[in-house]
Amino acid sequence: MDGNGRWAQRRGLKRTEGHAAGEEALLDAVGGALDLGVQWFTVYAFSTENWRRPADEVRYLMGFNESLLQRRRDELNDKGVRIRFIGRRDWRVPKRLLRRIDEAVELTAENRRLTLTIAFNYGGKAEIVDAVRRLVDEGVPSAKIDERAIAKRLYDPDMPDPDLVVRTSGEFRLSNFLLWEAAYSELVFTDVLWPDFRREHLFDAVREYQERERRFGGLSE
Ligand code: FPP
Repeated sequence: MDGNGRWAQRRGLKRTEGHAAGEEALLDAVGGALDLGVQWFTVYAFSTENWRRPADEVRYLMGFNESLLQRRRDELNDKGVRIRFIGRRDWRVPKRLLRRIDEAVELTAENRRLTLTIAFNYGGKAEIVDAVRRLVDEGVPSAKIDERAIAKRLYDPDMPDPDLVVRTSGEFRLSNFLLWEAAYSELVFTDVLWPDFRREHLFDAVREYQERERRFGGLSE
C-alpha cells in the first residue's frame, strides 16, 4: 500500500493524512477482491524496516492500525472475510494493537470467503530467518531440510503462494515483501498512489495478469 506519503504531500497535507486516506482504498480493494472471487488477499501494512521512520509517524501508524481494526472488523466479518496476520510479534508492537489483532483474527476465524492477510512488522528476510530458527530449535537434521520443511515454518503455512503481486506508486521493487512466497508470482506495477487505488485498478492488474504466460521455469505448452 505504497504512496500514502506522496499523495498527502502533493495536497499539502501531513503524511499521516495519506495513511488515513489509504483506509478507503483498502476497503474498496478488498471489495474488488470479493467481487472477483479472489480467496487470498494480502496487504503490506508495516514492514520490519518501517521502524526507521520518524517516531511520530510510527506512533500514528500503530494507533491507526489499531483503530482501523476496531472500526472495520464487524463490516469485514459480515462480508465473510477472515483476517489473519503475518509478521513478528516483538516488543516494539504495542500490546493494545496485539490485542486488537488477536480479537479480529478470533472474530473472523470461521469465515472462508476471502482471507485478508495483514503483513504487519513483516519482512520477507525476517520470515525466512524465523523459519530457520524454528528448524534449529526443533532439532531438524540438515538432510531433512528441504523447501517443504521451510515453507511449513513460514508465518502462515496455509497461505498459498501469491499468483499476482501488485506494487503501487511507481516503484519497481518488492521491498522485502513475501520473498519466499513470491518466487514465481507475476508482478504488476502501477503509478497509482495507494490512497487513489480502487477496485478498478485491481481489475486492471488482474487483466494484465491474465495476459501473462506462467511457465514456472518450464517451457510453454
Ligand atoms: C506506505 O506509504 C504505507 C504505509 C507504511 C502504511 C499503510 C497502512 C495503511 C493504509 C493502513 C492499513 C491498516 C491495516 C490494519 C491493514 P508511504 O508512507 O511509504 O508513502 P510514500 O512512499 O509516498 O512516502
